[in-house]
Amino acid sequence: MATTICFVIWVLFITGSVWTQSVRQAYEGNDPEDWSADDFDCPMECFCPPNFPTALYCENRGLKEIPAIPSRIWYLYLENNLIETIPEKPFENATQLRWINLNKNKITNYGIEKGALSQLKKLLFLFLEDNELEEVPSPLPRSLEQLQLARNKVSRIPQGTFSNLENLTLLDLQHNKLLDNAFQRDTFKGLKNLMQLNMAKNALRNMPPRLPANTMQLFLDNNSIEGIPENYFNVIPKVAFLRLNHNKISDAGLPSRGFDVSSILDLQLSHNRLTKVPRISAHLQHLHLDHNKIKSVNVSLICPTTSTLHTEQDSFIHGPQLSYLRLDGNEIKPPIPMDLMTCFRLLQAVII
Ligand SMILES: *[C@@H]1O[C@H](CO)[C@@H](O)[C@H](O)[C@H]1NC(C)=O
Ligand SMILES: *[C@@H]1O[C@H](CO)[C@@H](O)[C@H](O)[C@H]1NC(C)=O
Ligand SMILES: *[C@@H]1O[C@H](CO)[C@@H](O)[C@H](O)[C@H]1NC(C)=O
Ligand SMILES: *[C@@H]1O[C@H](CO)[C@@H](O)[C@H](O)[C@H]1NC(C)=O
Repeated sequence: MATTICFVIWVLFITGSVWTQSVRQAYEGNDPEDWSADDFDCPMECFCPPNFPTALYCENRGLKEIPAIPSRIWYLYLENNLIETIPEKPFENATQLRWINLNKNKITNYGIEKGALSQLKKLLFLFLEDNELEEVPSPLPRSLEQLQLARNKVSRIPQGTFSNLENLTLLDLQHNKLLDNAFQRDTFKGLKNLMQLNMAKNALRNMPPRLPANTMQLFLDNNSIEGIPENYFNVIPKVAFLRLNHNKISDAGLPSRGFDVSSILDLQLSHNRLTKVPRISAHLQHLHLDHNKIKSVNVSLICPTTSTLHTEQDSFIHGPQLSYLRLDGNEIKPPIPMDLMTCFRLLQAVII
């Protein structure tokens, strides 16, 4: 049972996105026969596929402005243009929009008119990757489920931006300019359904404070994080995937129980400053500790208890039961002790 759940979570993770129920419904509820020929007003800059009347394709066209969006459109593709502004006007009739892709444009916060986004009451997905944003756009529609802001210059999150986004499941802020001072006490308050938070490649020196309670995937690679506060994981009891590769975490920066948190299944701590294997829980499956400064490995921290190592039967095993372990790029000198070799043979995959 537990294995099945782990597997399902793993698959979710592998696909890299949280494909939410409402979007599935959005596709299934899309019946072309509901549309009459009159509805096929197509902006001349764009392509309107006859067999997909709810979609409007305006990508890769060198557009500088957003054309008037017909009211029948659910899916709007505007990526890879030269758009600098999001005015209210072109969207005034586009009340059905579920999905907007504005990746790879030149949008700034000054260019976004106040009500342009918040008037889209059914919007679920908003893609604004690779633009020129310096803050998270606000206000956003309350219906939003995914907000993709990777590779902008975001350093500010206006007060209350997320406070009404109760359906947001994914927030991607990777490769921006966030410093620790971007977060207020209540920045993440209200994100009741947030599952994935990606803040990799920013300039954080501390773990972001007061994360939403349902966070399952927390990605903080490529920051300058030195440690994790005591009891940090208590407020995120569902966290299963934790990526902290390429930070500055040392032994001294770890809380007293280390990563002995039963919800964590996948823990990535590559390219940090650890000299010892940290404490982990018996539920952890994947552990990345490569490229640290580990000199020797305490077998009892990463292996099932020794008594079970000598028996052939599938007897009761306690202690860690990793299926994947990376230890390469450390300072472990051969010969590797016998008990450690025996343990490594039991694990499905070890890279040393
Ligand atoms: C919205 O619909 C009205 C009525 O059909 C029309 O006059 C107006 O031009 C439309 N606006 C846009 C931006 O298409
Ligand atoms: C959030 O999602 C639920 C379930 O799909 C829906 O009923 C509700 O209206 C949504 N909330 C908002 C603010 O759109
Ligand atoms: C972090 O930086 C390393 C080294 O520059 C790079 O290989 C890796 O892809 C980066 N990861 C993320 C998630 O930004
Ligand atoms: C190895 O880890 C166990 C469990 O935390 C601890 O009791 C033991 O003292 C450690 N051994 C060494 C040599 O550090």
